[in-house]
Amino acid sequence: MSHVFPLGSRLDERGRLEVGGCDVVELAREHGTPAYVYAEEDIRARARTYREAFAARTERFEVIYASKALPVTAVHRLMVEEGLACDAASGGELHLALAGGYEPARVYMHGNNKTEAELAYALERGVGTIVVDSFDEIDRLERLLAGAPQRVMLRVRPGIRPTTHSYIQTGQEDSKFGFGLAEVPLAVERCAAAGLALRGLHAHIGSQVLDLGAYEKLTEVLAAIGEWPLINLGGGLGIAYTTRDDPPSIEEYVEALLRRAPRGVTVLCEPGRSLVGNAGVTLYTVGTVKRIPGVRTYVGVDGGMSDNLRPMLYGARYEAEVADRFGGGELCTIAGMHCESGDILVRDVLLDDPRPGDVLVVPATGAYGHAMANNYNALPRPPIVFCTHGDARVVVRRETYEDLTARDV
Ligand code: LLP
Repeated sequence: MSHVFPLGSRLDERGRLEVGGCDVVELAREHGTPAYVYAEEDIRARARTYREAFAARTERFEVIYASKALPVTAVHRLMVEEGLACDAASGGELHLALAGGYEPARVYMHGNNKTEAELAYALERGVGTIVVDSFDEIDRLERLLAGAPQRVMLRVRPGIRPTTHSYIQTGQEDSKFGFGLAEVPLAVERCAAAGLALRGLHAHIGSQVLDLGAYEKLTEVLAAIGEWPLINLGGGLGIAYTTRDDPPSIEEYVEALLRRAPRGVTVLCEPGRSLVGNAGVTLYTVGTVKRIPGVRTYVGVDGGMSDNLRPMLYGARYEAEVADRFGGGELCTIAGMHCESGDILVRDVLLDDPRPGDVLVVPATGAYGHAMANNYNALPRPPIVFCTHGDARVVVRRETYEDLTARDV
């Protein structure tokens, strides 16, 4: 089975895809489509691989789950069990993280424009570390804390632009995130004056990064601006979306993070996508097949840009297969059901004679699929189903039409 599918996936004797030991055609029948299906063991295995890769090389580390990739209570519970800390990028993500059971001291609060209410919530709940992003935020914290102790780190723009889509580059000088390197001395001074316990520097250079050299450079840049007990190198390790993608392994990534790290420093990292991206697939049902002679074959499915915005936003490429007839030679384009021509999930993919009623599976949708799902065209958002050793359980139910009117006043 290709590495884009969750670990442990296989085709059974009838040629049907199994994820976490569960037949996905059966899952589609039972839970409906679209549905996000995850192999629970895949998430656990990757979390463990991160911790083991660090533990084999240093005692001083922390693996922090960047929960924006899949902000779901059930996922947090797994991460807590696997010994990870948590990155929350908003008050809402913090709410989910706390519901998932992290000790508040192991939560890192992020955001380039945390509101006063979000900061107050974080402080009230005893969040361990606030990753401070601006001078205005230092002022706000000083006011809110009124002398109470609080650990913070400073987010910086290291002036590194990794190779990835421009929307998910964050380390360059022209960025809304963090302090410029030249501003660090003043920010350090301001933190001290505000009574904040500054523990170190943070930088996140971008996402879906495949070139590990950028991380060695990042460690050097951070080490050059002072000695700190902690450095947080952010997240960003890329994953395989298509069978041709060959991303570095988690071990290689961790090795790169540590290679140039100063002796004695505690190295923190914040993986999101590389923990959950390949653990999940999306199931759809094919409704229409339009063969336009000499032009293109459109395979219409019952989801689209409401459950996976990444193809439209970043031009992201995915694979697709008919769940019980892998392989095949018909060139198809997978179209969503939204009222936009841009609602194309996968352009030019080979399928085996797709027919109405087929279950279509799109792999590698585990990160930023559910996270960025929306209700465009008033589509109820799909459920999340966890599969492990042949057992399936719904951890987030499907939205209903009633949910769509639930906020009406
Ligand atoms: N830490 C910070 C401060 C971040 O901003 C991010 C991602 C991460 C960690 C985790 O990065 P990861 O390991 O997942 O690459 N919606 C986009 C991705 C945006 C990522 C934003 N920040 C996508 O679907 O590709």
